Amino acid sequence: MQRDDENTPNRRRFLQRIAVVAGTSAFVGTGNFLERFSVASGMAYPDPPDGCPAMPAGGAPFVPGSDTRPIVLRKSINALSSTELTTLRDAYKALRALPLTDKRTWVLQADLHALYCYSCNNSTVDIHGSWTFFPWHRGYLYYYERILGSLVGDPENFRLPYWDWENVRAIPAAYTTPSGVTNNSLYDAVRDGGMANGDPLPINDGSSTQIANLNGLTDFADFGGSAFGSGAMEPSPHGAIHVDVGQHFGQQHDMGDLAYAARDPLFFAHHCNIDKLWSRWNDKAGGAGLPAGAYRNPTDPGFLNARWSFYDENQQTVSISAADVLNHRNNLRYIYGLVRIPFPPRWYFFKCRLFCCRPGPDPAPFIQMDERDRESILRALSRSQSSVMLLLRGVRFPAKIAGAFDVLAVSGDKRVPVGSIGIVGHSGVEHREGPRPTTLALDITTAAQDLLKKDNPATLHVVRRSESKAQRSAFVLQADSAEIRVQQQQL
Ligand code: C2O
Repeated sequence: MQRDDENTPNRRRFLQRIAVVAGTSAFVGTGNFLERFSVASGMAYPDPPDGCPAMPAGGAPFVPGSDTRPIVLRKSINALSSTELTTLRDAYKALRALPLTDKRTWVLQADLHALYCYSCNNSTVDIHGSWTFFPWHRGYLYYYERILGSLVGDPENFRLPYWDWENVRAIPAAYTTPSGVTNNSLYDAVRDGGMANGDPLPINDGSSTQIANLNGLTDFADFGGSAFGSGAMEPSPHGAIHVDVGQHFGQQHDMGDLAYAARDPLFFAHHCNIDKLWSRWNDKAGGAGLPAGAYRNPTDPGFLNARWSFYDENQQTVSISAADVLNHRNNLRYIYGLVRIPFPPRWYFFKCRLFCCRPGPDPAPFIQMDERDRESILRALSRSQSSVMLLLRGVRFPAKIAGAFDVLAVSGDKRVPVGSIGIVGHSGVEHREGPRPTTLALDITTAAQDLLKKDNPATLHVVRRSESKAQRSAFVLQADSAEIRVQQQQL
């Protein structure tokens, strides 16, 4: 299975090159190929990994306080007025029409993302898989937003919208209807068939329950990553929704492949929502009874001083650091709507471990824990409504794996989904550093009775989602450490 999967992107790139030579879209088959021509220059856009532009370097450093535009609300895409939606479409239309020689152009900006995610031959970094994930994307969106705003003559007030998938469970209509890029600059022909036709997101991906669980993670390392690995937000909902909207292997690649993801305008609405959730997570800092570092960003200079170069609305090379983007209100001039911040719920922690593995045709790990802890969790569950989260740190994925996976608690014939993992692959170059570990936050509320059974507890399996009848695990879940968190008033 792996081998076939790995060959597909190369074959696709090969077919695309053929199509360029032959000057026909017949080989690509989606009709999207023609949309990949620059209208202005008549040239085919270069594709990663070979066709990427040079990695931007240096540039005028961002000066906090220098942006004095008004502080404007970033809104949900579904809350835009029809005038605002027209402006958004006009902006993307203008962006798509820019010639390839322009540093602001649609594909060059998408290639910037590819460059920074190790998808180009000349990539030198990957800003995914570590604590750079949040601040890099915030900086990228900031300059992209300025470019779009200046293309419609309103950099002062233009702000990107977000796709709040926790409420809007399908691709927002603005991005699908009308269809075709000529009629709708937010459209992308290269999306997964199901979601492109209105299917909702799989139940676990980006649900409000999942977000409530993520908000139970008070440490930045668990939520947003560390120097060496990613936080729980990155594999799911972030990665899962990427792979739901696009496919990693095959032709529906844009959102499903880091090398192409930012060619879909939906990418920016998706990442605005990720950015909003980071912002709201920070808003919980300082709550009563919380430890000092809870809901706060890292203070390590290795995080704060990370700096990246982008192009601004005047095509100038500029650079911005992680420290510069932390206060998005004052420095980047946007906010997200005020929400009533619920008092951070109290979670009770229990150490446990994933014991690998119960032997059999599909060996899989199960939870082991102190007998008294196990009993108090089960007692709490029987007494009242509780949420139970299994937090796994230092989870490693096999090399070169990509796609959407479900995590299932399996007990006999019973298979209860407890979470999802989206690994957004690169069709570009091989990751020189290898896959980085991640934190996973699984919602085991409905499976807790089975997972915590004294004899024959349920086992945890990771199955590839596209193979709905998959009986075998795609890989064995392993973690450096594990913890169960129970949210309940009286324990
Ligand atoms: Cu840089 Cu959502 O990926």
